[in-house]
Amino acid sequence: MRFVKNKVNTTPIEDNVFAVVKLAKAAKEKYGEDQVIDATIGSLYNENGTIVAMDSVFTPYKQIKNETMAAYAASFTGNESFRNQVYQWVIQPGGCTLAHSVIATPGGTGAVNMTIESVLDEGETLVLPDIAWGSYQLMAGMLNLKTVTYDLFEDDHFNLTSFKETCQKVMDQQQKLLVVINDPCHNPTGYSLTIDEWEEIVQFFNACGKQGPVILLNDIAYIDYAYDLDHCHDYMQTFNQFSDHVMAVVAFSCSKTLTSYGLRCGAAIILGQNAEDVRNMEIVFEKTARATWSNIPNGAMENFVYVTTQNLDHYLKEKQSYIDLLKQRSDVFLTEAKACQLDCYPYKEGFFITLAIPDNAKRDRFHQALIDHQIYTIKVNHGIRVGICSLSLKKCPGLAKRMKDILDTI
Ligand SMILES: Cc1ncc(COP(=O)(O)O)c(C=O)c1O
Repeated sequence: MRFVKNKVNTTPIEDNVFAVVKLAKAAKEKYGEDQVIDATIGSLYNENGTIVAMDSVFTPYKQIKNETMAAYAASFTGNESFRNQVYQWVIQPGGCTLAHSVIATPGGTGAVNMTIESVLDEGETLVLPDIAWGSYQLMAGMLNLKTVTYDLFEDDHFNLTSFKETCQKVMDQQQKLLVVINDPCHNPTGYSLTIDEWEEIVQFFNACGKQGPVILLNDIAYIDYAYDLDHCHDYMQTFNQFSDHVMAVVAFSCSKTLTSYGLRCGAAIILGQNAEDVRNMEIVFEKTARATWSNIPNGAMENFVYVTTQNLDHYLKEKQSYIDLLKQRSDVFLTEAKACQLDCYPYKEGFFITLAIPDNAKRDRFHQALIDHQIYTIKVNHGIRVGICSLSLKKCPGLAKRMKDILDTI
């Protein structure tokens, strides 16, 4: 008997990540920490092998009054102070002047899912990159949507041709387009688009918009780990050129920004030329929020505001030390990968580097061979993800060459 609804896929989540994480843990117990490369974990870890919980974030968090943490948020769209501060933090620095609204969400996941759910009707098609965070596909499946993917890369840059062709096909079919661009610091390749690439994308959206509404879902989960923090929002200026038929939702996550994955706080920022269109989307988002999670933890929202205003200097200094660490780790790995011709997707910044293995059958064999050599990584479409966010610097030297030697035996 089937007790759940009919239109739902009941195959269990294939948790690749969890299975390999478990294997890596067992190997460390058996062979000792030093003998194992564990590049599976997707959260930020320090050099001692423990998760980073920034002092500048959690010391003030613990000082929040009990009553504040106990209370509901002021509104289903979030506290005013939080909504304003998210706008100041995410949109203001890039010079985007479009009409806007911020809705608090449980992490970036809440923002992404709410957008997909509120924009597309059942049976419609969502456009995704071919190499991507796995949850997008899961969300589409749960909402009974179809997906199509664009090839993310052509040589060492964004594949604009595939992007345009894929979007155009969907627009021709359904006269509406919702497309995910996970940028900057793409998960899992670490790519970030150039301003020129963004310019072209925006021009294309405007052309496409003549046929029907275009909604860009820009997932910026890792933006606060960009190497050039002073300019990483600049691309948002290009949104100012949107026609009346194009809108964006920027999905922001405090999980990475504050190393507070468990506090479930983030935001969806709606941007468009017309205040009325923004307001209409805000109404639907507010209802979706109320119908799904009701409201966001008050303490988490208050803490984001405190940390990014009154505690800003301490926080930025602490976060910078981890950006520097990511850079050191990635520099070692990529320099050596280049020297031994281990092919990686074009990494610029962020938590992950992905080895390019276009053939998924070969990738599977390679992944297993790595495990046989006590090197634990995560399989992604057309590649192998190396989580430099959790791999300590001392484990980086020699790793690329070891991987290349194993790959050459496959
Ligand atoms: C690309 C991307 N987007 C969004 C998220 C959402 O994270 P959270 O819901 O914890 O904010 C993640 C988390 O792994 C991610 O990798």
